[in-house]
Amino acid sequence: MTDRATSPQSHRSAGSSPVFADARQDQPTVETDRIAVNTGRMQAQLARLATFSDAPPPAVTRVLWTPTDLAGRAYVSSLLEEVGLELRTDEIGTIYARWSGSDPSLPPVATGSHVDAIPNAGLYDGCVGVIGAIEAVRALCDAGFVPTRSIEIIVFASEEPTRFGVGCLGSRLMSGAMSPDQARALRDGDGLGVEEARRQAGWSGPLENVRVASGTYHAFLELHIEQGPVLERLAVPIGVVTAIAAPATVRAVITGEGGHAGGLLMPERHDALTASAELVLCVEAAARGTGSIDTVGTVGQLSVFPGAVNGVPSEVRLSIDVRDVDGVQRDGVLRRIVDDAAGIATRRGVRIDLEVVTTDLPETMHPELRAVLEASATDAGLVTHQLPSRAYHDALFMPRICPTAMVFVPCRGGVSHRPDEFTAPEEIADGVRVLAHALARLSA
Ligand code: GLV
Ligand code: MN
Ligand code: MN
Repeated sequence: MTDRATSPQSHRSAGSSPVFADARQDQPTVETDRIAVNTGRMQAQLARLATFSDAPPPAVTRVLWTPTDLAGRAYVSSLLEEVGLELRTDEIGTIYARWSGSDPSLPPVATGSHVDAIPNAGLYDGCVGVIGAIEAVRALCDAGFVPTRSIEIIVFASEEPTRFGVGCLGSRLMSGAMSPDQARALRDGDGLGVEEARRQAGWSGPLENVRVASGTYHAFLELHIEQGPVLERLAVPIGVVTAIAAPATVRAVITGEGGHAGGLLMPERHDALTASAELVLCVEAAARGTGSIDTVGTVGQLSVFPGAVNGVPSEVRLSIDVRDVDGVQRDGVLRRIVDDAAGIATRRGVRIDLEVVTTDLPETMHPELRAVLEASATDAGLVTHQLPSRAYHDALFMPRICPTAMVFVPCRGGVSHRPDEFTAPEEIADGVRVLAHALARLSA
C-alpha cells in the first residue's frame, strides 16, 4: 500500500473558467413559484419502489441484478417513460433517460443516483436522487421550461458493493476508473463473474462500450440524503457537498487450525476467529488513532469456517472498510492495519492474507457548480451549509468525465443503511426544488 492519496483531488475541467458563468447569475432561470414539486407523488413512488425488496418492510434489500432489483428497475423505467423521457441502458445496466433540449449538439446536463440497496437498508439512500430527479424534470416541464441543452437522468448500476465487493461499478466503468478487464475479473459470493451475471440479468455487448468520453456531459449533479447528522443538527435544509471522502476496501482471510472444541487444548490452539477478533479491534483502534472525526473504519462482514458450535474455527473471511476525507491519513490507517495484522499472525501462529480491493482517492466537488447550487438554493429560498460527504457516491467518479457537484438533504438522526432511515417529504421536496433550479440554470 503506497501513499497514493493526497488531499481531495480535482479533475478540474473548468476550475475558474467562465463555463458556468451564466448558470451562476443572480436571477433564477425559472421563477420559483412556477416549480411545483408534488410531494405526495414522490412519497407514493418511494413507497412503491420500497416494495421491491427481499427483506420484510420497513427494511429494503435490493441487491444488484436479483429478480427483485430487476423488478425495481423496471418500475423506475416505467416512471421515466411516463415523463416522456427517451431511455437506453448500457452494457452494465445503467439507465440513461433523456429530455431532449432544443440544441442537441450541446453536451447534456446529467443528474441521478442509484436504486440498489444493501441488505437491511432503508428506502431513501439513492432512491431520493432518482425519484427526485424525475420529479424535478416533471416540475420543469410543467412550468413550461424548454431546455436548450438536453437533460439526462442516470440510474447507475451497482452503486452498492454488496454483490461484487466493489461499489460504483457503473460509474467506475463509465469514467474509466475501472477497466473492463478489472470488472470482468470480479466474482460474486457464489463465484459468478460479472460477465455471466450481467448476461443473466439481460445485458450483453462489450463492457468497453460503457465508457463515456470526457466532455460528453456539461455537468453532473447528484441529489442524496446526507447519511450523517450535520444538517439536522444545524437545522439547515440543504447541504452543498465540498468533497467526498476516500474509501478503501480490504479483504482478509485468516487461516488457523481447526479441531475439536473439547479436545484441542487451549495452549495449542491457532484459532482463526480469536485472531480475527483482534484484527477487528485493531481496525477500530487504527481509525480512532488518527484523532480525526473524519477517519472511520468498519468490519461489516465476517464468515467463519466450518461454523460448528463444537468446532474450533480454521478459517475466517472478513471485510475492512476504511475512509477519510484526507487520503494520506486513510492510507496511514491502512498501513497500521497491515502492520498489526502481521503482529497478530506471528503471535497467534495463524496466517493473515490481506487483499486490497479498492483504494480510491478523495474528490473535490466542482467549485463553480457548487456556486450554481448555492444560487439555486437562494432561488428556492433555502439556506445551505457546505460539508464533506463521508459516504461515497457515483459523484466520486463522475468528476473524471465532467464537472460534478452534490446536493444533500438532512436525514433523521444521521441514520442510513438501516430500515429506520428517514427524510421528511418536505425535506426531499426542498432538495428537488434546488435540483430543478440548478438543472434549469445549467440547461437554459
Ligand atoms: C455507499 O453506500 C457507501 O458505502 O458510502
Ligand atoms: Mn448506500
Ligand atoms: Mn447512496
